[in-house]
Amino acid sequence: MRAFVVDKYKKKGALRLANLPEPELQDNDVLVRIQATAVNLLDSKVRDGEFKLILPYRPPFVLGHDVAGTVVKAGSGVRRFKVGDQVYARPRDHRVGTFAEFIAVDEADVALKPNNLSMTEAASIPLVGLTAWQALVEVGKVKPGEKVFIQAGSGGVGTFAIQLGKHLGATVATTTSAGNAELARSLGADVVIDYKTQDFEKVLSGYDLVLNSQDPKTLEKSLAVLKPGGQLISISGPPDPAFAGKLGLNLFLKLVLRLLSRGVRKKAKRLGIRYSFLFMRAEGQQLDQITSLIESGAIRPVVDKVFPFEKTGDALAYVETGRAKGKVVITVAD
Ligand SMILES: NC(=O)c1ccc[n+]([C@@H]2O[C@H](COP(=O)([O-])OP(=O)(O)OC[C@H]3O[C@@H](n4cnc5c(N)ncnc54)[C@H](OP(=O)(O)O)[C@@H]3O)[C@@H](O)[C@H]2O)c1
Repeated sequence: MRAFVVDKYKKKGALRLANLPEPELQDNDVLVRIQATAVNLLDSKVRDGEFKLILPYRPPFVLGHDVAGTVVKAGSGVRRFKVGDQVYARPRDHRVGTFAEFIAVDEADVALKPNNLSMTEAASIPLVGLTAWQALVEVGKVKPGEKVFIQAGSGGVGTFAIQLGKHLGATVATTTSAGNAELARSLGADVVIDYKTQDFEKVLSGYDLVLNSQDPKTLEKSLAVLKPGGQLISISGPPDPAFAGKLGLNLFLKLVLRLLSRGVRKKAKRLGIRYSFLFMRAEGQQLDQITSLIESGAIRPVVDKVFPFEKTGDALAYVETGRAKGKVVITVAD
């Protein structure tokens, strides 16, 4: 099969189009013929070597974290899927590699694709949808009437999280540049702040939850937006001790990760705010619930650009500009 591989960790390093054997199936795996995949900043960060400590992929390895396609083979232990099913997934860490024609995925990570979406649209959902779900539903437990601030409402995570926040009954505020304000409003955002001309920390107050996806300065300013008892959930770092514990690292590295978030945790504690770092994980059952929300019309995909498979490198470069409006998708096959 054709696949785009990382030959060595390198900042902005080019991917190589390789010919690889078809992936082997484990008992609980389905083999998916990939029809579309999507690009995430995680792909760039993995290729650059930023995640070497947490996700030590050994080059050469296939990049890519989102898949939509058709089941063409099922392992002997597979119960939930059969050949011919149209599915989508964010394969679990250490078993990624969706910039390819086939991938073997544990069935626990897979869900049936929403029947009202094309393969291209479906591929845009898993990683960002699960991130938003785990932040707002699993960790945040957002309730109707709460106030939620989602940064970067025009990005991949933001476009999904705004819609999920509204579905959960929250008042949603977001930041965008002026050109993307209308997109954020069309997704349901109640308050849209132009981050280039306004300081969100002066506009917003008394919020229950902030989903932080930006730099350390923005993280710090986010504390001012929250009420006592509120939650600051960051997907762009710094990692907290709970995350360091989950990784099974040695004591020294655990201490390093713990120290990275000491400042923000201390400040949050003083204000009565809970700080947590979220690193999303694969989860087919949550994706099932996302499928239902999409089929009911509560959430729609936002696809900015679609690239052909051969232009995977260009798709990655476009996402790295930081200007994508929603998701960037790659079509692999019909
Ligand atoms: N921990 C996890 O599990 C996890 C999961 C998913 C993503 N992430 C991380 O979360 C971050 C966001 O991911 P993403 O996929 O949503 O990124 P993305 O789609 O690449 O974000 C691009 C968007 O961000 C907007 N933007 C840029 N700077 C901004 C600012 N200062 N304020 C408000 N909006 C701004 C841009 O709008 P303009 O063009 O208008 O500026 C653009 O529409 C990344 O760092 C990613 O690695 C982490």
